[in-house]
Amino acid sequence: MTRRRYLLGAIAIVLIAIGVFSSENVTRLDFTAWGRGMWQRPTDLVAALDIERGQRVADLGAGKGYFIPYLQDAVGPGGVVFAVDVEADKTAALEERFPDAPVQVILGGYDDPKLPDRSVDLILVVNTYHHIDDRTAYFAKLKSDLAPGGRVAIVELDRELSGLLALFFPEDHASTLGNVRAEMRAAGYRELEVKEMLPIQFVVVFAPE
Ligand SMILES: C[S@@+](CC[C@H](N)C(=O)[O-])C[C@H]1O[C@@H](n2cnc3c(N)ncnc32)[C@H](O)[C@@H]1O
Repeated sequence: MTRRRYLLGAIAIVLIAIGVFSSENVTRLDFTAWGRGMWQRPTDLVAALDIERGQRVADLGAGKGYFIPYLQDAVGPGGVVFAVDVEADKTAALEERFPDAPVQVILGGYDDPKLPDRSVDLILVVNTYHHIDDRTAYFAKLKSDLAPGGRVAIVELDRELSGLLALFFPEDHASTLGNVRAEMRAAGYRELEVKEMLPIQFVVVFAPE
């Protein structure tokens, strides 16, 4: 079973690499990293989000906590990282993996992350936006969790990937930047910037109007 999983993983990496190499986005790969680090570039991505020491950030849809160590480093010991997920087995595993401050694990609801009101400086949403139902209502409500000057950064697989890459990712696990922009505008946000830095995902940052 494990050997089969490794084999499938290796095949997926080779296929993704072929897809990336056949696109103009090859220059956005991190050739010093391996596996997910190569295309996700977590250190560069978190650095690009301009998080300050002591800030309170949330990883919305934290999953297994891939981004938590990078966010922990960014906020430092005086900050807070809220790790939110809706699946209890995931939050239990997160609590086990990150038992100490500054990580606070939250079992959120599907329509409410249960973050503390008016207190989060940055809410990072990686590969999770497309999982959320009724996004306009969800993100409209989420504004009440942001501290003054707070931002929401959305990182999604780009549904408009061209060429070979488009074959490797199911459409329902991706979004278009245009759709995210329209939904966030409807939820009462203005776009701050798009960070053109990842090979297969877009990174877009919003703040409340
Ligand atoms: C594809 S995983 C991404 C995990 C992580 N962000 C990463 O990039 O490795 C999506 C995660 O979002 C969670 N999720 C789905 N709907 C959610 C919601 N409404 N609020 C918070 N988390 C949600 C799922 O349980 C899952 O762990």
